[in-house]
Amino acid sequence: MINKTYAWKRLAAHYRWHKKDEMKDLFLRDSERAQKYKVDLGNLYLDYSKNRINDKTMKYLINLTKEVKLKEKIDAMFSGQKINTTENRAVLHIALRNRTNTPIYVDGKDVMPEINAVFSKMKHFCDDVRYGKFKGATGKKLTTIVNIGIGGSDLGPFMATTALKEYWAKDMKCYFISNIDGSACEDVLSEIDPETTLFVIVSKTFTTIETLTNAGTCRKWLVDALGEPAVSKHFVAVSTNAAEVSKFGINTDNMFEFWNFVGGRYSMWSAVGLSIALMVGMENFERMLAGANAMDMHFKNTEFEYNIPVILALLGVWYNNFFGFKSYGVIPYDQDLRFLPKYLQQLDMESNGKSVAVNNKFVKYSTGAVLFGGAGTDVQHSFFQLLHQGTSIIPLDFIIPAISHNEIGFHHEILVANALAQGEALMCGKTVHEAAEELAKSGKTKAEISQLKRYKSFAGNRPSNTIVIKKLDPYSLGMLIAMYEHKVFVQGVIWNINSFDQMGVELGKQMALSILPELQGNASGIHDSSTASLIKLIKKMRK
Ligand code: F6P
Repeated sequence: MINKTYAWKRLAAHYRWHKKDEMKDLFLRDSERAQKYKVDLGNLYLDYSKNRINDKTMKYLINLTKEVKLKEKIDAMFSGQKINTTENRAVLHIALRNRTNTPIYVDGKDVMPEINAVFSKMKHFCDDVRYGKFKGATGKKLTTIVNIGIGGSDLGPFMATTALKEYWAKDMKCYFISNIDGSACEDVLSEIDPETTLFVIVSKTFTTIETLTNAGTCRKWLVDALGEPAVSKHFVAVSTNAAEVSKFGINTDNMFEFWNFVGGRYSMWSAVGLSIALMVGMENFERMLAGANAMDMHFKNTEFEYNIPVILALLGVWYNNFFGFKSYGVIPYDQDLRFLPKYLQQLDMESNGKSVAVNNKFVKYSTGAVLFGGAGTDVQHSFFQLLHQGTSIIPLDFIIPAISHNEIGFHHEILVANALAQGEALMCGKTVHEAAEELAKSGKTKAEISQLKRYKSFAGNRPSNTIVIKKLDPYSLGMLIAMYEHKVFVQGVIWNINSFDQMGVELGKQMALSILPELQGNASGIHDSSTASLIKLIKKMRK
């Protein structure tokens, strides 16, 4: 177990010595600090100097990577080894952005030809829809895309199409249906026209109850409007399950395949990204793949001291396992990235929210942290109060594009000023003494100062990373997402867990299936008394 290693114990001792070090003092003592703790990749820049670290911290954290053989584990992933041990699968989202086409073998077979064939099919289809060659049943151009999927089959396409809104074809719009709540379908169906709508059903398994129920409702809506033969003109599927797709009435010529070596939450780079490609064009989709590939190459080939995903992962471990900070926030200062935290929640928490190690033993240290966030400056007016003055310390990632797609007046300068100010304020804080001085300057009486000075003080010493991209374009979006994927991977390696299964989502699904017939009819099951009375109450209310 990692917590028994020398590197871990060294870090624990180092933590005891340095846990109270003030970042602002570290800056005063070292004028080079900001230059030392940064990595510049041109399109993406990481400043990690506002962290509670010194040179030794980084050295000891890097020692941890040697202890867990991180280099070998990275090579194992990139070479197609079956590192998803509980499901006996390779983990090859990196193959989807392998722009040089270097062969990658799974069970002795190069996966690149199949991947390229699907991309070429996607390109033709996207061009045909976007240029009006593939038309709806009544001969009209399809200009509305409705993505039906959930989890990894929704969050990636949803986040990325929103992020790349500036690249959408001008005559097209898109919607996403994921939740089983009928309102999710109703909200979309009430706004769209069946004659110009293309439904993209995305489901790796094509058995997910939410997706199949939503797809069935949309299918009925379309058939009621345009008749049964219209289905093949208005529905396409992205799946690994051809049999179920054709049972649904979708021509398998219009099915886009992906593979078991692509996990749901790592799948937006595959045909699961069809809605993205339809909206922004395959050329832009490929730019996103190229950005992700640039991050893959950086991750695979760079010394860990200068390796962005590795540094981010190590800082996360430092806070989670030594300081005991069990959550972290991601705050993009870009309106179009507002769904990034939602996407990252699945990526990080479904990957690393685990308690059993790959050696089949329960872990005795904490693993995945709770991730939350939202777009700045909006969230400054909601949960930032707690970040500044609450009793929990929550490390943050600020994401800032230097150039906005909408440079209107001083909007962008104000936005960026706020992002930078938050990082500085969280680190520097304001002592009670400083607060008192400020109150005195503003003309408050002695009594007022003594009454207010503590409320107006800020503990400070709260860490953050700042990630600057030049502009939110497909390439930098690809880099950013791949950066977080690899960060999550590195943490999984350190915690010795399998980041690529998701067995924790099964129990609730199973129980829902047994409660459903009880809600629908007279079936009865065995439950705790709370659940049993809630079933009874809701049935009574619904009568
Ligand atoms: O929530 C569990 C999960 O299996 C995710 O990993 C996946 O992204 C989602 O459900 C959807 O599954 P499918 O693509 O098979 O419909």
